[in-house]
Amino acid sequence: MVPADSPLAAPADAAPRPVRTREYLMCPPEHFAVEYAINPWMHPEQPVDAELAVKQWDGLRETLTRLGHPVHVLDPQSSLPDMVYAANGAFVVDGTVYGARFRYQQRRAEAGYHRAWYLANGWTDFHIPEHTNEGEGDFAYLPAVPGVGGVVLAGYGFRTAIAAHAEAQEALARPVVSLHLTDPRFYHLDTALASIDDSTIAYYPGAFSAASQRVLRQLFPDALLADEADALAFGLNLVSDNRHVVLNSTATGMVAKLAARGYEPVPVELTELHRGGGSVKCCIAELRR
Ligand code: ARG
Repeated sequence: MVPADSPLAAPADAAPRPVRTREYLMCPPEHFAVEYAINPWMHPEQPVDAELAVKQWDGLRETLTRLGHPVHVLDPQSSLPDMVYAANGAFVVDGTVYGARFRYQQRRAEAGYHRAWYLANGWTDFHIPEHTNEGEGDFAYLPAVPGVGGVVLAGYGFRTAIAAHAEAQEALARPVVSLHLTDPRFYHLDTALASIDDSTIAYYPGAFSAASQRVLRQLFPDALLADEADALAFGLNLVSDNRHVVLNSTATGMVAKLAARGYEPVPVELTELHRGGGSVKCCIAELRR
């Protein structure tokens, strides 16, 4: 906990942080299963409770809707058990869509379904990537970093090719900062770092190379620092509307740290989707008009 007299603690009489209405895309876990292992969290020999997964996913969708954020739904495909992790299908900034190209063959066909959805829904500025990248799994966006403006943070090391960072910069016309992920448990950027408002991030330093940690300290001296336990509980795999931060309910340490900073944590239960190596953020793609 941040002590009450710390400059990081939210004053008791602080005005509530303004909500920024988001627009999201999600894909129901109708065909969710752990049939192969492409990250250290996946254990195909351990059964998944498919019914509970659907119930928990519905809870997440209802939570977002209740907070006032429209949620679009992508049709799930029976041959694509990881499609529930909709964050991986593309990365959208100010109406421009940079498409995904999945690293593993098991997920490759997902990219086409995402692309078809964007094109059918009026997102005509769609860039088909040449380089391997897993969408918002490895790309985060901060719209208003002081003195800079919109900044893209991009991870590499396990899934997204570093060449995709340059490709995304050309497609989206925003500076892209490359960050090296070095711990296989945090194989996507969104397992180790999250934007919690227009210019603030939360991250777990231990997931990054020493040089990338230094880059993050330089760019974000006021970041909320998570520890290993927070990251292992998927406490960084969150979505924020500038006030409410929706995150995995077992990430109790992060809940406390966010509250101490004046955010309103909204915990949701997602134990079954954890078995595939994902949580809240992995299930949600943000559509930035
Ligand atoms: N089983 C999926 C994979 O390994 C999980 C993806 C999680 N998504 C995310 N945005 N981190 O590809």
